[in-house]
Amino acid sequence: MNVLLIGGGGREHALAWKIAQSSLLDSLYVAPGNPGTLRHGRSAGIDPADHKALRAFLLEKRIRIVVVGPEGPLVEGMHDRIAADPKLEGITVIGPKAEGARLEGSKDFAKEFMFRHNIPTAAHRTFVKGQLQDAIEHLDRVNAPYVIKADGLAAGKGVIITNDKKEAAKALRDMLQSGKFGEAGERVVIEQHLKGVECSAFLITDGEAFKMLPAAKDYKRIGNGDSGPNTGGMGAVSPVPFADKDFMQKVHDRVAAPTVRGLKKDGIAYQGFLFMGLMNVNGEPYVIEYNVRLGDPETQAILPRLKSDLLDLFEGIATGTLSERHVDVDDRTAVTIVLASAGYPGEYEKGKAITGADQVRDAYVFHAGTRLKGDQLVTDGGRVLAVTGIGKDLDSAVASAYRAASAIEFEGCYRRDDIGKDLVKQPAQRAAAKQPTA
Ligand code: AMP
Ligand code: GLY
Repeated sequence: MNVLLIGGGGREHALAWKIAQSSLLDSLYVAPGNPGTLRHGRSAGIDPADHKALRAFLLEKRIRIVVVGPEGPLVEGMHDRIAADPKLEGITVIGPKAEGARLEGSKDFAKEFMFRHNIPTAAHRTFVKGQLQDAIEHLDRVNAPYVIKADGLAAGKGVIITNDKKEAAKALRDMLQSGKFGEAGERVVIEQHLKGVECSAFLITDGEAFKMLPAAKDYKRIGNGDSGPNTGGMGAVSPVPFADKDFMQKVHDRVAAPTVRGLKKDGIAYQGFLFMGLMNVNGEPYVIEYNVRLGDPETQAILPRLKSDLLDLFEGIATGTLSERHVDVDDRTAVTIVLASAGYPGEYEKGKAITGADQVRDAYVFHAGTRLKGDQLVTDGGRVLAVTGIGKDLDSAVASAYRAASAIEFEGCYRRDDIGKDLVKQPAQRAAAKQPTA
């Protein structure tokens, strides 16, 4: 079958790499792709936001499956446009229609959904334009730290967490009064602060059945020890030691199953991936957010562990037979380290020559923000490459990932030095864990 993959980051390189291994694949095209995806498929050479061009391409290449990597096109209705076009009948889109994509596109919608379906999440109140005073007064009724979220997509910048009530009030004014977040901030969610450790769980669904995919932990802050500003993600680990069998069973029963059931109950036909951003609060999962896609860089850690054929799962979605398919997971550990441009997530320069990326042999190198300038690979984004090492345990996966990452250079190359290391058990902990329990 012929597949079109939408997107051009590290997640999409990992998806292209995985899809290309399928025995069911005839041709893979990617729009816009990057030098990494070009090794596994051809560039579609179209702007996927241009429906006319997309439509002509889908027909000409006889595409059966469109895999949408990022949330933007889903929230904007790419799936709806394809589904509404009689000429494009028979094409399966991996990713929900706009209504389902609101789980990510609107925090308020997601919260209401969770409350309606009894899915554990932080308590919240929503305020709209004109309710600034009510919102500020509400701060007196909740405890610090204050968690303030712009309702819409804000590229990871729409969440303010602060102990300072004045700063919280300013965030509310910025959103509801000054329009600092544009439309995304015209509606604001104030929610209860949850204390715990975060991890990401993923599922794939055809709208009826669902399969859990490997879980991962993402490292969101730019600096070692989770310091500095938020980024798209600086590294990932899969599996997550603290997301043990018992915790993941709770995620399955209390979050994943009621979410898929809830979507169906609400009449929202949802197919594709669902990312559940979770807080583990004393062993109990709470949903912090939904994303309607896979994570980046989590994908670069989870797909190398997926033994099953991804196109077989997509075919399960196309034919509504996902329940009959299998998700087999490699029980080794994957650790992904992001190599970023100096200055990211602020301003950074592009066009720096990259060396060593092609010489890495015993780890995966996924391209995120790269470009070919003639024959030379150069930087072309904030997050440049994602390097994934695999090992029989966390220590060896961390070592493998850092060994490979160290072999790659470009001017200003920045990475965190602690990815996965916070999760590696210290010798004392290990000895304690080995003690038989009474
Ligand atoms: P979100 O965009 O909703 O994922 O929020 C971004 C980040 O803010 C999350 O990854 C968490 O680290 C943090 N966060 C969001 N909501 C809460 C909450 N209710 N309690 C504690 N931390 C939160
Ligand atoms: N790494 C977090 C995300 O993809 O949203």
